[in-house]
Amino acid sequence: MSNYRVAWLPGDGIGPEVCDAARLVLDAAGFQADYLHGDIGWEFWRAEGEALPARTLDLLRNTDCAFFGAITSKPAAEAVRELAPEFQTRGLTYRSPIVRMRQLLDLYICLRPCRAFPGNPLNYRDHIDLVIFRENTEGMYIGVEFPKIPEALLAVPAIRTLPPDAAISIRSVTRHASRRIVEAAFQYARKNGRRKVTAVHKANVLRATCGVFLEAAREVAARYPDIEFDTANVDAMCMWLLKNPLNYDVIVTTNLFGDILSDLCSQLVGGMGFGYSGNIGEKYAVFEPTHGSAPKYAGQNKVNPLAAILAAKMMVEWLGEREIASNIERAVAGVVERGAANTYDLGGSASTMDVARSVAESLRCAHVMR
Ligand code: IPM
Ligand code: MG
Repeated sequence: MSNYRVAWLPGDGIGPEVCDAARLVLDAAGFQADYLHGDIGWEFWRAEGEALPARTLDLLRNTDCAFFGAITSKPAAEAVRELAPEFQTRGLTYRSPIVRMRQLLDLYICLRPCRAFPGNPLNYRDHIDLVIFRENTEGMYIGVEFPKIPEALLAVPAIRTLPPDAAISIRSVTRHASRRIVEAAFQYARKNGRRKVTAVHKANVLRATCGVFLEAAREVAARYPDIEFDTANVDAMCMWLLKNPLNYDVIVTTNLFGDILSDLCSQLVGGMGFGYSGNIGEKYAVFEPTHGSAPKYAGQNKVNPLAAILAAKMMVEWLGEREIASNIERAVAGVVERGAANTYDLGGSASTMDVARSVAESLRCAHVMR
């Protein structure tokens, strides 16, 4: 195995702790890589007015993929107040670095598997095994927002009818981005023996944007007659996911709906301690636990690192190291099933690093047994 080059972006809050845990497991699994540290997060926003410095973008462009911990984001006014004095008057706007990485590097797939590990006391139901494909570059996340209606937009009759103090966020959905995310979902379904793809939308109200998405989804689905296809409105989908989670398999949707559904689905399989993501493009990908930086737990070595460990598993899988990936997944499943190291969310008192050591131990035992 050649040495991979991995950009290592721990970020803020509990990010560094869960990254250390993932790293311990990667080493124990025999994954060989050079880990190159990258600056990212709140500290750099405050000191430099840039949460994703240009040097970090250069690092991303010169590595095989990146592993990202978490970052702290705060509302606009608070973000500006926390800037170093020399940046306060420059009209800077804080934008989430993870959203920017997704867009700048065209990481158009946000892949979020949600699998109920047998024996996890937090499973909502056993046997849940869902995969979310969230469009990751457009939709409500394009950052075209106006706290007040700009003059130029008053030329649009529908905008003139709005109350003058309305704030506006613009949603953009293209055929191209819709097609490629649905295509990715079907390809995944075919490769992984999945039976069904469900496209989630709200085309009865968001007629223009969700209309484009739904039409693209139907078009792509027609080329995969071997895979069942259905559609659901996002509100109904939330209800159905709670009522019959086993009816679903691969879910594909636009950016904001995917954000919302993926937290819901994480909770079905144990909460944010189990939610992990791959932000995947044609040539590059950024892997991350889906949870945030949880500042109140920072430095306590207390949070569940399984989401980060599973993100690391997805990273090595994407790099083509399938055996290492399945070893990690099996080790995680074993630790969960035996209740070998339960953090507080699972009702135990194991530390972040206890969990990592337990997964590492399980990997070593598997080696010995082979
Ligand atoms: C996620 C997160 C991000 C998002 C935040 C941190 C900007 O909630 O990855 O789901 O909204 O996409
Ligand atoms: Mg989210």
